[in-house]
Amino acid sequence: MTAITALEQAVVRYPGRPDAALRAVDFAVRSGERVGLAGDNGSGKTTLLLALAGLRPLASGRLLHGGRQVVLREQLRRLRRDVGIVFQNADDQLFLPTVLEDVAFGPLNLGCGQEEARARAVETLGTLGAAGLAHAPTHTLSGGQKRIVALATVLAMRPRAVLLDEPTNDLDARGVARLEEILVTGGLALVLVSHDHAFLARVATRTVCLHDGAILAPG
Ligand SMILES: Nc1ncnc2c1ncn2[C@@H]1O[C@H](COP(=O)(O)OP(=O)(O)OP(=O)(O)O)[C@@H](O)[C@H]1O
Ligand SMILES: [Mg+2]
Repeated sequence: MTAITALEQAVVRYPGRPDAALRAVDFAVRSGERVGLAGDNGSGKTTLLLALAGLRPLASGRLLHGGRQVVLREQLRRLRRDVGIVFQNADDQLFLPTVLEDVAFGPLNLGCGQEEARARAVETLGTLGAAGLAHAPTHTLSGGQKRIVALATVLAMRPRAVLLDEPTNDLDARGVARLEEILVTGGLALVLVSHDHAFLARVATRTVCLHDGAILAPG
């Protein structure tokens, strides 16, 4: 099956850093799979998600969307629409005064009218069990509530794949259980970065391990 998003021999470098953050990484996400991504601090997990979402340019290698190399701006735009990313820090995702505005922002940006965007936002929050937060000022949310709302901002855009960077941070046991149910029943292709191996074991259909910017052989 063709991957929704894939990297081939991807190398990513940051300015002022002698070593590449990703070294010749091959990685693909296909419809229906939930890929766990584990690895030590600084091993390149966040960088890999950013590269897969088209948010971090490659020094060399290829980024593919639906099997085609992403070269043109328009192709990058389509990739970004299909592949959502929930950032490691929820505050990077939320910037409007209320939850509803934040969740409606993505659909509005995709060209939905006000009504439609609002309706999608309400529906998405409902699916996540967070309908009651719709009118809350974003800055008053707890850490766990921010995580759920950050996920809602991405799901409201109805992506084909979602990349989640440490989604269980700040969640209590009930929050984690609810998140697991959402992720498993949602049927979306996922990449899940987590240091919580039990969480990955329960949710991921396969797990990949990064070490020093390279993918370790299975096992
Ligand atoms: N904006 C940046 N500028 C310079 N170096 C960076 C930048 N972002 C990440 N790096 C470096 O790239 C490497 C990989 O970082 P990355 O954030 O991808 O790791 P990670 O596996 O997500 O770590 P963590 O588990 O701590 O979140 C690290 O050495 C980090 O210092
Ligand atoms: Mg990280």
